[in-house]
Amino acid sequence: MNYRKFIEQQTAELRATVGDDIAINALSGGVDSSVVTALAHRALGRRLKTFFIDNGLMREGEPRRVVSAFRQLGIPVKLVDARAEFLGALKGVLDPEEKREAITRTFYRDVFARLVRETGARFLLHGTILTDIEETVAGIKRQHNILAQLGIDPQKEFGYQVLEPLKTLRKDGVRKVAVLLGLPKDMVRRIPFPGPALAARIAGEVTESELVLVRAATAIVEEELASTKAFQYFAMLLTDRATGIRDNRREFGRIIVVRCIQSVDARRATATRLPWPKLERICRRIVALPGVNRCLYDLTPKPPATVEYI
Ligand code: XMP
Repeated sequence: MNYRKFIEQQTAELRATVGDDIAINALSGGVDSSVVTALAHRALGRRLKTFFIDNGLMREGEPRRVVSAFRQLGIPVKLVDARAEFLGALKGVLDPEEKREAITRTFYRDVFARLVRETGARFLLHGTILTDIEETVAGIKRQHNILAQLGIDPQKEFGYQVLEPLKTLRKDGVRKVAVLLGLPKDMVRRIPFPGPALAARIAGEVTESELVLVRAATAIVEEELASTKAFQYFAMLLTDRATGIRDNRREFGRIIVVRCIQSVDARRATATRLPWPKLERICRRIVALPGVNRCLYDLTPKPPATVEYI
């Protein structure tokens, strides 16, 4: 694919479709939504309103980091605090698909519908990529940013039309477009992070305390593995518990899985062969977190596993 041409075509198409109307989009800080933001800003300028919705499920320091990185690029991003709404919607929800649904509903029906009303936007831009569509259609996993494929009519249900300028690209293509759009290297190379954010990294109910734990574990894993150039790496908090011994006392503690994979586009993946001392160091740091007494490294390829656990 000629990515320069892709940018030209998508820019022209966005201009033609949106016309004099307003379009809005949510920036998550991931490469897909970053590229959509930069592309649409190029096409629409001030007629694009970009929001960063803090759903309380973000990684350490993420909301401010992302907003200020875009400010430096001359793209204004408004930070919206919706933490209470999302955590409220996730209360008591255990089933993975129900969790995704609660997040989707809160995002589109509550928070976004409100922003659409406030901005008068008629278009919502999405960072949907080809892999998202394929996996949703195949029924493997509901991706939070797919509506049409789920039989939801956003125009009828929420009052806006969804535009998906990246839907013909895979992750590697999105990265190429990111480079051509002049996005900074660390943004281009950012490892994928799921739309449901840390809610996808907690096997059970998403609560404040589980979030604190998985956020801390995620920070450790990302810090330790940043230099590996692996496709993706993260920490996952299980609901199972394991017996341990701390300060000469029995402890029925938490289990955290570390996953680090090699992949081109997330369709297939293999576990990264990390050096043993690196694994030991990560394990030492993870089990120093309060209540955690097991740290496991996941060797499973995709398939049969998926990248995420829920
Ligand atoms: P799976 O778990 O399906 O993940 O093998 C493939 C890639 O997609 C990311 N992922 C998601 N991204 N919303 C997203 O935006 C989601 O619900 C979601 N689930 C998984 C995952 O991190 C991996 O890179």
